[in-house]
Amino acid sequence: MIFLEKKDVLILAIESSCDETAAAVVKNGREVLSNVINSQIEIHKRYGGVVPEIASRCHIEAIDTVIDEALLKAGVTLDDVDAIAVTYGPGLVGALLVGVSEAKAIAFAKNKPLIAVHHIKGHIMANFIAHKDLQPPFVCLVASGGHSHIVLVKDYNDFEVLGRTCDDAAGEAYDKVARVLGLGYPGGPKIDALAKEGNSEAIAFPRVKMTNALDFSFSGVKTAVINYLHKLEQNGEEYNKADVAASFQEAVVDVLGEHTIRAAKENGVCKVALAGGVASNSALRARMQKLCAENGFEFFVPPPVLCTDNAAMIGCSAYYKYLDGDFADMSLNAVASLEL
Ligand code: KG4
Ligand code: ZN
Repeated sequence: MIFLEKKDVLILAIESSCDETAAAVVKNGREVLSNVINSQIEIHKRYGGVVPEIASRCHIEAIDTVIDEALLKAGVTLDDVDAIAVTYGPGLVGALLVGVSEAKAIAFAKNKPLIAVHHIKGHIMANFIAHKDLQPPFVCLVASGGHSHIVLVKDYNDFEVLGRTCDDAAGEAYDKVARVLGLGYPGGPKIDALAKEGNSEAIAFPRVKMTNALDFSFSGVKTAVINYLHKLEQNGEEYNKADVAASFQEAVVDVLGEHTIRAAKENGVCKVALAGGVASNSALRARMQKLCAENGFEFFVPPPVLCTDNAAMIGCSAYYKYLDGDFADMSLNAVASLEL
């Protein structure tokens, strides 16, 4: 049994936007009582990426057990929780619908408030769980498989997008390059590991500049890597995979780091955070740490388990919406391309 003060707010959070079925119980926004993640990676791996229909089916099969386990690990029952939170977008619509329907059903049956959470805001909020003293404002780079944004976090519920990718997300580029290198899915961790054995200056892959200096484009560097490999293969020439991985990563990390620091400077903010799956990348973490130290900024990054998809971050975001009285009703629907 856990000890609960009367004023404590307990939230059961559900996340099912892509290929992780996750549930968590979060106390007062920042204390994680349980964080259960059922990953479908092993299933999608054989197809080289996430298959939306399979993801939806796997969510349906797993969600009840995942929620039961989250409640059990937290030592609470549905009657103890103050609200049910769920990711309602962006993501795969069929996958999102499983979580949204489940959350609505529980909220209705148990007569609890329902809180709709934006997936990208959730990623950002993981920083509040990992760093108990962190307070807004700060600049956060969110880089995942589906999104790459630079966000000014003005307050717990007040976000401004300063820059975004015009084409591929950073994680998408990692996954695609890993695929052409024959490393398998998901590519990010594989490239991260292989790059440690390579020379990051071996090949000069492009760093694309956009009209809005804080925007990104990763399709150019992805295509440059593919063309480089095809050309060598056509000529029957050998190449060093580790050098390609390290040089590609260097190009991506260069741009992510430069733009994020510029955003902090332009907005007079002295705290910088990372979020999203790509934030678990060792080279990006090291680069941001270095750049922040050079510029006198404080640097924040969640542990890898809170960088990739999880429901604890959704519970954290929901807590601040709860405090604002920002509740959803039974008409809540999944929104695949929800804007920030
Ligand atoms: O946040 P996330 O779990 O799901 C989305 O919301 O997209 O991010 C998954 C992405 C994948 O593209 C994966 O390759 C990438 O994050 N990723 C990494 C690393 N770990 C995961 N990318 C680079 N380095 C890593 N260590
Ligand atoms: Zn995500």
